[in-house]
Amino acid sequence: MDRHKVSKEELLAKLGFPVLEPLPKGMTESYIAYKGDSRSVVKIAEKSEEAKYRNIKNDADALMLVSDISGIARILRYEMFSLSNASKWINLHFHTNLATQDYVMFEREYIPGTDIAGFHGIKDFEAIESFRRCILKLHERGISGLDMIEWHNDRPDHIYNLIQHQETGQPYLFDLGRCYLLEQSFKAYNQGIRKDWREFDLIVDSAYRRPNGINL
Ligand SMILES: Nc1ncnc2c1ncn2[C@@H]1O[C@H](COP(=O)(O)OP(=O)(O)OP(=O)(O)O)[C@@H](O)[C@H]1O
Ligand SMILES: [Mg+2]
Repeated sequence: MDRHKVSKEELLAKLGFPVLEPLPKGMTESYIAYKGDSRSVVKIAEKSEEAKYRNIKNDADALMLVSDISGIARILRYEMFSLSNASKWINLHFHTNLATQDYVMFEREYIPGTDIAGFHGIKDFEAIESFRRCILKLHERGISGLDMIEWHNDRPDHIYNLIQHQETGQPYLFDLGRCYLLEQSFKAYNQGIRKDWREFDLIVDSAYRRPNGINL
């Protein structure tokens, strides 16, 4: 007999996110989750989808270290669970026996705003300063490689993974899926630091050099 393969939407409904709106598909599946008036962003992957699973877990592991830093879309929930435990829906509360878990999911704060996706960069002095402090603090916590620019053949292509808050104008990082953790590799972390400042300069410069947002 065919076993019904439970969908990610069904799993998220069971976890308490019945109303979802898929976000544009990138590397991972992410959704806006609605509860009454509030919104958040949830991501989920199955262990067999290795790259996605790793990306989501890396994102959540990093977020756990930096939730107090301003300029980061904060983590609200992080769970790993197994379908064989589905009736219990064990909430593992951040420490887990990875070997037995089939899924990873996390929920992060929704930032109302616009993607800093084109080539417009960040212009406002306050916004640049708070963005700079945010990067510095992440580095101090052992996190680098913030993946703010998509590169093609060593050329900057476009800015991404940054959103500008619609009320405060503050830039927020919302995707640490590819970041490096100092505790995992000092070498990668160090390279990530250099890459981050290079990207920071490009993001800020591009706003001034190319006020019409033509090119990096
Ligand atoms: N916390 C958030 N608040 C508001 N919008 C968000 C948030 N997280 C993601 N988004 C929106 O969803 C889109 C995709 O998000 P995200 O980068 O997390 O997906 P992804 O699957 O990792 O994509 P990629 O692999 O291309 O980076 C973003 O461009 C952004 O517009
Ligand atoms: Mg992304």
